[in-house]
Amino acid sequence: MKTELTVKLHEWEQKVQKRQLRRAEASGATVILNGKPMLNLASNNYLGLADDRRLIEAGCEAMRAYGAGAGASRLVVGNHPLYERAEAALKQWKRAEAALIFNSGYTANIGVLTALIGRDDLVFSDEWNHASLIDGIRLSKAACFCYRHNDIDQLESLLKQSPPDKRKWIVTDAVFSMDGDLAPLPKLVELKRRYRAILIVDEAHSGGVFGPNGEGLLHHFGLEKEEDVIAIGTFSKALGSFGAYVTGEPWLVDYLINSARSFIFTTALPPAVLAANEAAIHIVQSEPKRRERLHALSEQFRTKLKQLGFDTGGSETPIVPVIVGPNDQAVAMSELLQEAGLAAIAIRPPTVPEGTARIRFSITAAMTEEDIDMAVDRIAWAGRQIGLIS
Ligand SMILES: Cc1ncc(COP(=O)(O)O)c(C=O)c1O
Repeated sequence: MKTELTVKLHEWEQKVQKRQLRRAEASGATVILNGKPMLNLASNNYLGLADDRRLIEAGCEAMRAYGAGAGASRLVVGNHPLYERAEAALKQWKRAEAALIFNSGYTANIGVLTALIGRDDLVFSDEWNHASLIDGIRLSKAACFCYRHNDIDQLESLLKQSPPDKRKWIVTDAVFSMDGDLAPLPKLVELKRRYRAILIVDEAHSGGVFGPNGEGLLHHFGLEKEEDVIAIGTFSKALGSFGAYVTGEPWLVDYLINSARSFIFTTALPPAVLAANEAAIHIVQSEPKRRERLHALSEQFRTKLKQLGFDTGGSETPIVPVIVGPNDQAVAMSELLQEAGLAAIAIRPPTVPEGTARIRFSITAAMTEEDIDMAVDRIAWAGRQIGLIS
């Protein structure tokens, strides 16, 4: 086995696809990467809450009061009262009747999809969906039809051709994690109605970022009350903490508690995480200025990069890719940027399609306008060095 696996490692190395861990210590808009302080253009900490004093204090207090670990799964004796508080806060925020916290976005997606989708169902999945949705669909064993990214016409034609008696699911990210563009949720809802499908929306990168109170993209479009739409969100990105959630009607939560394997067969979250989650839910609603600042800085960054001639794809969010193309060029650009003090990471296949290796920049409200200008100047320099812009 060792020989086979080392051959594979060598293959990845040849294709400039081998990944390796870097030592990273993030704080505010900065990260110390392999010992060097840099402007952090690579986190999902969109609102700058990951090191917010209130989250830290809530977490420390909970840990001191209740201990470091839950000690059991939620269905055994791990269902700490802090779950009740965080889930009550979630219901109030999302204006939902019921809420359920999972241990991470990854496990929420595989848990919800495998619990709800039957092997005889049909799934229609955007080709750029996050790996956790893809894995959930695969584990469900249902037949899956991938439609071209955000291609509503192709999705409709696939739905039209499918047998009317089969249960159908449309699965999409709300904000696509490597491109920062939006799913056309109003059109997807229209197709869902027309073909009597159920829509699953992953709000990982839209929670905290879109919606009147940061509830997500469904709320942004006023679609939160739509029937047969299931939204999954995370605490791990804009909310600066860890874990994930599903909100909806009580029967859905009850069903998931009884059937989502990634919910049932895992230890409950530590009290400190739950307390931080609850604090984050309150801050997201009470401090809309963070969201406004985030969108303004993202707009400034994206507009300047486009003016310089970079291809930022369809980004409309704090995730702004610069599409480079070949893997080695993307890696070269990322190394130049890191030398210049920017934490900017190359994203390569299989995470993105072949030939579209990129630098995935992300903006946070913890940055200043000066940070953005400085970053743009250095990105322009690196882009010229590798011949991406003239
Ligand atoms: C779209 C999307 N869904 C789900 C996840 C998984 O969330 P978590 O990091 O909380 O496991 C991610 C994380 O990268 C993501 O980008």
